Amino acid sequence: MSPRTARPRHYLMCRPAHFTVDYSINPWMDPAKPTDTGAALAQWDELYALFQRLGHTVELIEPLAGLPDMVFAANGATTVDGKVLGARFRYPERTAEGPAYADWFRERGGWQVRDAEHVNEGEGDLLVAGGRILAGTGFRTEPAAHAEAAAFLGREVVTLRLVDPRYYHLDTALAVLDDDEIMYYPPAFDAASRAVLERLYPDAILAGAEDARVFGLNAVSDGANVILPEAATGLAGQLRARGFTPIGIDLTELLRAGGAVKCCTLELRH
Ligand code: ARG
Repeated sequence: MSPRTARPRHYLMCRPAHFTVDYSINPWMDPAKPTDTGAALAQWDELYALFQRLGHTVELIEPLAGLPDMVFAANGATTVDGKVLGARFRYPERTAEGPAYADWFRERGGWQVRDAEHVNEGEGDLLVAGGRILAGTGFRTEPAAHAEAAAFLGREVVTLRLVDPRYYHLDTALAVLDDDEIMYYPPAFDAASRAVLERLYPDAILAGAEDARVFGLNAVSDGANVILPEAATGLAGQLRARGFTPIGIDLTELLRAGGAVKCCTLELRH
């Protein structure tokens, strides 16, 4: 029996109905390579069904035409204690997603929504880890947004600098497994940030290059089950050795846009 306990979660997702790669804002995106929206939908459906099978509640936001990256719900906001810090995207191709997600929360009601002043790409870069928020910068989210998040969300924010353009959002290089456990790929960070991570999480699972490259760190944990790309077999073994239950899933069509499990999932924290 697993020594780990799953906690039921509340997620927001967006069907990839308009998924394609027709611009490039990260090294994974090549508009010259054809994409298959049907395949993206089928793979995404598996993730959606899996969350529900595991006992989680999943809400959906309406996908908007002309916003092919809207499937990556993690970027849409950051939620803590009923507060929602809206996203403000770096690139014009995704700008309209910020208000679309913020409107979803406003229409729903019961959330205190703030429109962001500084560029932040939601939970792509702001990962809630127990009482603190691990915050990425270097490619998308601005350091000023880290201070904005700390003030509005009322949590300690730890700034981490990303240095490899393939790992442009924090959630492509680090995953939160439990309140005080994480896994990450050290070479994605600068030396100072690696030192911070070693101090805060001396027992962290360290991913190798092979697992990082297949987006193994773009994972979602409920405290016991860790859903991650199925190609990340090394990480799956490391997770199993720590008492987690890794569940591999195929999201390779979405990886053509530079996203996987965590990118598709925004956690709603009331
Ligand atoms: N094509 C999207 C972008 O470059 C992918 C976003 C992936 N999302 C994430 N949470 N890492 O913005």
